[in-house]
This record gives sequence, C-alpha cells and structure tokens, in this order.
Amino acid sequence: MYLIYSLIFITVLSLFFTSAIRKNSKIFYWIASIIASGTIIYEIFRLISDTKFQGLIFDFEKASMKGNFSIAFFVLVMFAGTLNPKWSITKKLLSIRAESAILGSILILPHGIMYLVRFIVKLINNKPISTLYIIYLIVGLIAFIIMIPLFITSLKKFRCKMKYIEWKKLQRWAYPFYFLTYIHIVLALLNDDEVDILKLSVYSVLFITYFILKLIKTHKKNKSVNTI
Ligand code: HEM
Repeated sequence: MYLIYSLIFITVLSLFFTSAIRKNSKIFYWIASIIASGTIIYEIFRLISDTKFQGLIFDFEKASMKGNFSIAFFVLVMFAGTLNPKWSITKKLLSIRAESAILGSILILPHGIMYLVRFIVKLINNKPISTLYIIYLIVGLIAFIIMIPLFITSLKKFRCKMKYIEWKKLQRWAYPFYFLTYIHIVLALLNDDEVDILKLSVYSVLFITYFILKLIKTHKKNKSVNTI
C-alpha cells in the first residue's frame, strides 16, 4: 500500500501546492535531501546492527527506500509530457516538471546506493543470489546512470549553461530511462517469493498507459510534420 499512498500524496502535493513548489523549490529539495540522507543513515545502521524498527516513521522510511516517493514524482514528469496540453492539470504539471524530476532523482539516491551496498555485502558474505536479482540490479544500475545527467541538467544552474538544442537532445534519454525503470521494477517484483499482483498492476497500468500516450503523441506529431 506504500506505493498507492505515495502516488496519492505526491500527486495531491504537486497539484495543490504547484506554485509553492515552483517558488520555493530549494526548500523542497532540502526536505527531499533530508529524507534521502535519513534513509541512507538508517539503512547503514540496519546493515551494521541488523536491527529493524517498527512504526509509522519506519513505514515511511521503507516507502522511501523502496523508491515509492521517487517513482511518484517520475510518473508526474512522464504524464506532464503526454496529457492534453490544453488541460489545466497538464499546465500545472508542466510548470513544475523540472522540479518534480529533481525531487524524484534526489529521492531515488538512497535506493540505488543502499541496494548496491546490500548487493556487495551479500557477495562478500557469499549469500545466495538469483540470476533474476543480478539482471534487475544491472537494469536498475543502467537506469540510475542514465538518470544522473538528466538530474544534473534539470538544475537551472547547469541547464542555463547548455545550448537549448543540446539540452533537448540529452532529455531524449528520459525515454530509455523510463523504459528501463519499468523493466527493473517488474523483474524486481517477479523476483519476490510472493508476487505482489496489486503493485505489479499499478506500475503496469501507469507505465503502459504512459508509453501508449507517448506513441500516440509522437505519431500525431510526425503525421502533422509530414502533411506540411
Ligand atoms: C543502482 C541502481 C538500482 C538498484 C541497485 C536497485 C535495486 C532495487 C531492488 C533490490 C529492488 C527490490 C526491492 C524489494 O523488493 O525489496 C528494487 C525495486 C524497485 N526499484 Fe530499484 N534499483 C536501482 C535503480 C532504480 C531506479 C533508477 C529506479 C527508479 C527511478 C528504481 C525503482 C524501483 C522501484 C519502484 C522498485 C519496486 C519497489 C516496490 O514497490 O516494491 N530502482 N530496486
């Protein structure tokens, strides 16, 4: 359920506090950085002490570690680019697209870093590792590496140093990033002893709807270009 709560919370936050996010983006980046650092510190503590705490704050940490907050922001970035631009919801999402991409990137850092650390610890301790686990980790790592330049060039400081055409070209890497992220998530969920059908369905509905809308939009655009 963390995923659904995260999707609802982040969507409501983005649609009702759009101008607050745009005007005070640095404050939101700081909040995301505090959540990300807190998650990393707790996960290191968990690795060292082998202790696990219960309670709301730790449910929150688990949603952060699983990438649920991050994926909620990336889903808004994806749909901002495919929904009807005349709709007010699309205009709102487009007005904070860079901020949402930056927040999504900050919030996925603990996930990528600490799951890699966990993988290395498993290797060192000769723990059993399935082939599917290695495959989805590699897919996740490639997605993570593609995300880094997209993250950095979403920041105004770096974006304004680039030519628009170069920046636009680089942003095209967002599509393989979304695709690899979806494959990564599906394989990770299929690797669980008990496959969470609800999660698999929610992720699949979101990503497949996005890919279909994107294909339709690209097709329409190409058609209008060819008729000129
Ligand atoms: C270094 C790169 C990455 C590593 C090592 C990694 C590792 C993992 C692992 C181990 C899981 C399974 C978690 C579990 O079931 O407990 C997982 C699931 C997941 N990963 Fe990654 N990942 C990486 C990159 C990414 C990226 C870039 C994204 C998205 C932007 C992402 C999003 C997710 C999501 C949403 C799940 C499913 C969580 C859930 O709801 O159960 N991962 N990842």
